Amino acid sequence: MSNSSEAELLHTFKGIPFTTRSSPELLKSLDTFDAREDDVLLVSYPKSGTHWLAGVIAKLYHTQVTITSPIEFGDISQLEELNKLSSKRIIPTHLDYNMLPPNFKKNKCKMIYISRNPKDTAVSMFHYYRDNPNLPSVDTWAAFFDLFLKGKVVCGSWFDHFLSWEEHEDEKNILFLFYEDMKKDLPKVVKEIILFLSLNISDSDIQDVCKKSSFSEMKNDTEKENSDPTHTVCALTSNRRLIFRKGAVGDWKNYFTPKQNIRFQEIFNEKMKLSKM
Ligand code: A3P
Repeated sequence: MSNSSEAELLHTFKGIPFTTRSSPELLKSLDTFDAREDDVLLVSYPKSGTHWLAGVIAKLYHTQVTITSPIEFGDISQLEELNKLSSKRIIPTHLDYNMLPPNFKKNKCKMIYISRNPKDTAVSMFHYYRDNPNLPSVDTWAAFFDLFLKGKVVCGSWFDHFLSWEEHEDEKNILFLFYEDMKKDLPKVVKEIILFLSLNISDSDIQDVCKKSSFSEMKNDTEKENSDPTHTVCALTSNRRLIFRKGAVGDWKNYFTPKQNIRFQEIFNEKMKLSKM
């Protein structure tokens, strides 16, 4: 757990809390970021399965691609690094749609948005707050539950994030995926991704990718010494050991009290009344 104060770890940009791993200067300059037509964005609210999706996609390409660090990660020099990359870029981000550099929208870059039941997302994020020294400390699940519902957590409100992207769900260059569907039938989701990215992959290779992308395989890979400790897919940590916790659907039932569940459901129904979810 972190000993640093919230003020040392978080800052707010356009009303959304970011960690100091995303510098205000970099966030300000995102508006002018130079997107390339063949960039692919991997978009998520934290704890929705970002690393899982990135792991699958990395295994699907036979040509040279780079899964870069998140576009909102680091200081301004990070953008220079991204500009210098000569290979095709797969760029992760936790940005909501409104904060996305406009050039990605103008170029109609392919974007994959992965979402997860917000109750499981909240529980996963609670553990992340407890274990990740880049995030403020939080004493109890009850305290975190309140912060999550108020959107007073890093990356802001789950509801606002989801809705900002869902509004663009029908755009051809955006693919919506759900963590729960990946758990239920990974090969089916992988086939959707392959189609969306216009890749050509045999059924046996798909089986192989799915096997290597299981929770246990990915967790084991992380334990191996040769995994790169400096590489980051999430702007909130470079430590992959903090990522692979339980990998389950429905863990929220072990944390939510009946009262919390009712409160969550009421807020969900109100905020999501215009959503198709
Ligand atoms: P839990 O904390 O519920 O275990 P992100 O990558 O966006 O930070 O999301 C992390 C969550 O995805 C964690 O959830 C993690 O365990 C889960 N996850 C990562 N890889 C996974 C996999 N291969 N299969 C299932 N869940 C996975």
